[in-house]
Amino acid sequence: MLTRIPRTAMAATRLSTIQRHLSSTSATSAHKVERMTVFGAGLMGAGIAQVGAQNGMKVILSDVTDKALENGLNIISKSLGRVGKKAQPDDVEGFISKVMQNIETTTDAAKAVEDADLVVEAIIESLKVKRDLFGFIDTKAQPSCIFATNTSSLSVSEIAESCSEERRAKFAGLHFFNPVPAMKLVEIIKTKETDQATYDALMEVTKRMKKNPVTCKDTPGFIVNRLLVPYMLEAVRMVERGDATAEDIDQAMELGAGYPMGPFKLLDFVGLDTASYIAGGWREKAAKDPSVISQELVQESPLLEKLVKEGNLGRKSGKGFHDYSK
Ligand code: 3HC
Repeated sequence: MLTRIPRTAMAATRLSTIQRHLSSTSATSAHKVERMTVFGAGLMGAGIAQVGAQNGMKVILSDVTDKALENGLNIISKSLGRVGKKAQPDDVEGFISKVMQNIETTTDAAKAVEDADLVVEAIIESLKVKRDLFGFIDTKAQPSCIFATNTSSLSVSEIAESCSEERRAKFAGLHFFNPVPAMKLVEIIKTKETDQATYDALMEVTKRMKKNPVTCKDTPGFIVNRLLVPYMLEAVRMVERGDATAEDIDQAMELGAGYPMGPFKLLDFVGLDTASYIAGGWREKAAKDPSVISQELVQESPLLEKLVKEGNLGRKSGKGFHDYSK
């Protein structure tokens, strides 16, 4: 069930959907995103929903359980508390509640997309699960609706294969960074099938979210992760070889290269399981076609794999390369 939508608002919404659909048939009309649906109420999905709502969009946040949605709303209100302290210091609660009014939640995927101009998917990094979701909503969303995936490591084109040819022209990657409310970058990934109007609409909407968009082809890791993951893996190899300690490497990159976090703090922040999963996927790609990504960049790291096996996943588990339990 969709929460917090009054009947009159639903009727008005239907009318505006018809109007939007009619205008989308005009070749010259630009597709302006007013209604965004975000799938996945984890850290990334909640962050994306938040920045949309903060910047005036009507947002629907969707996940498979009410518990996941509740968790997502908690992430958002906590983060809005931080933003509100600067944006509206005299009335932080008022700021939070105003932004929250732009967010509705539902576990019903079909309802979630029926009026959406843009769908952003931020669910688990599984090609099958993502394809199942997009294949399902392709038949439920308006023909004009843009589909975007926040995948960090999978091929956008391979995910888009689950959709019709018409939708594939409106399918792109929209890759945000953690913590979404604080990180200014969004990577826009154009596949060979993404049309110009979709790309233009995504450029416009990311700027409206007060982000800086950059563009990249559909290649492993796009720009940031393609450079960041091999760098973090090489840092782990330095520790494995006994070249330097994790603490000293972190300090060196923070003070010597001006990074906000050294590679081990960043690995702990991103999640060791996530880093291991990304590298594993790329190893498979490299084995099939080394021209896509070189095998040397993503060699398996025994230390990283050991920590993941032990459940030491970084900040989220309380311990990774550093200890967060105290
Ligand atoms: N919500 C809202 N605001 C937040 C926030 C959140 N969750 N987290 C941080 N902020 C804001 C703070 O309020 C503060 O705002 P202000 O400057 O207006 O006061 C600002 O961000 C800085 O935060 P802090 O003062 O608490 O702490 P730091 O200065 O240490 O910054 C950090 C924290 C922004 C996380 C910084 O350490 C950083 O940039 N780290 C690197 C993060 C990074 O590299 N992320 C990318 C990871 S890769 C990825 O996401 C890709 C994925 O596909 C794996």
